[in-house]
Amino acid sequence: MSILSWDDFEDDEPKQAAQAHQPAPVEPQKTTDSQVVSNAQHSSPNLAAAQPARTSTNRPTDPTDPLARASNALENLDVAPGLEELEMGAQRVQVDDKAMINCRADLNQLVPFKYEWAWQKYLDGCANHWMPQEVNMNHDIALWKSENGLTEDERTIVMRSLGFFSTADSLVANNLVLAIYRHITNPECRQYILRQSFEEAIHTHAYQYCIESLGMDEGEVFNMYREIPSVARKAAWGLKYTQSLSDPTFKTGTPENDQILLRNLIAFYCVLEGIFFYCGFSQILSMGRRNKMNGVAEQFQYILRDESMHLNFGIDMINQIKIENPHLWTAEFQEEIIQMILEGTMLEIEYARDTMPRGVLGMNAGMMEEYLKFICNRRLSQLGLPEQFAGVNNPFQWMSEMMDLRKEKNFFETRVTDYQTGGALSW
Ligand SMILES: [Fe+2]
Ligand SMILES: [Fe+2]
Repeated sequence: MSILSWDDFEDDEPKQAAQAHQPAPVEPQKTTDSQVVSNAQHSSPNLAAAQPARTSTNRPTDPTDPLARASNALENLDVAPGLEELEMGAQRVQVDDKAMINCRADLNQLVPFKYEWAWQKYLDGCANHWMPQEVNMNHDIALWKSENGLTEDERTIVMRSLGFFSTADSLVANNLVLAIYRHITNPECRQYILRQSFEEAIHTHAYQYCIESLGMDEGEVFNMYREIPSVARKAAWGLKYTQSLSDPTFKTGTPENDQILLRNLIAFYCVLEGIFFYCGFSQILSMGRRNKMNGVAEQFQYILRDESMHLNFGIDMINQIKIENPHLWTAEFQEEIIQMILEGTMLEIEYARDTMPRGVLGMNAGMMEEYLKFICNRRLSQLGLPEQFAGVNNPFQWMSEMMDLRKEKNFFETRVTDYQTGGALSW
């Protein structure tokens, strides 16, 4: 049997004829786009020789033929499938169609912007870009390896901080991409969440870079979130809120489920990123201010700047969901949220006591407790909830200067200059 010309293949119409094994029509057939591609491929003599003979009544349906499979797949392509159930005939998105959650508008149309604050934070996050390898670790390595470079208490703080953060940022990143991303239904916020996810990857990279540079026992550090109670309890508390959302069958759209999403956002943005990072960060930054572990401290300062933006974005997102869905913010729910934030504060105070059995670096557990109560009040008021600790002050004003009260404009001007010159931060 001779190899027939590919042009002899039929178009769609004579399908029944092909099934009935009728002879091919003799007149030239219209050639489809996929057939043009196939034709070009089959003009190669080697390829043609490798293919079984095709008859005019045979469409390229041989399942062992990749070209036939590709051609058939494209013929059956559904133009509107996918995660977001696109309506191809739907209208162009208008600003008023957009919503934080449960939105049915096309999520691939970034503009027109509705949530300008989210887009601006995305731009600010990009302007704040940095990479861990830019930070010189030589001084830290020498200090860490010298016998009397650091006290035992200082070494504990470095180990615990890297132990908690090396996995905590991974928990945050997992929560972003595996749990909340699909439930936040506007592209401006999603754009920021994507940026944030990358920043979380950079943070995990930074901790790994510190751990490797200092020659720490990686198994010990990366397992603290399971093995050291004061670290493990914080991780476990956060994981509790990510569970139901990461279930692929979970859907928002009922008040109960929308509240589950809100709980998750508050747990991760306000407690994990907004409280759980604060004891370790102030300890390490205090070390940097005393000219110890400057490289680790510089990385932590960059991370803290990112985290401060994550927190602000989270607060804006939560408050916007509240505005658009006031029925979710019931008195009962508010009580529950106050309790969550108090639980987080208490866990962080436990962590402070565990990591600072004595005074160290000009701070002690009592001062940290006051600082964390001050932070707790701040988180509550940012969410429009009543403060729970009367008369507490901030014993670490320098931390506020470093990020809390820093004007974002000045902050980013400084950061961009630093990044472009690769210069070290000044304390
Ligand atoms: Fe992070
Ligand atoms: Fe973060």
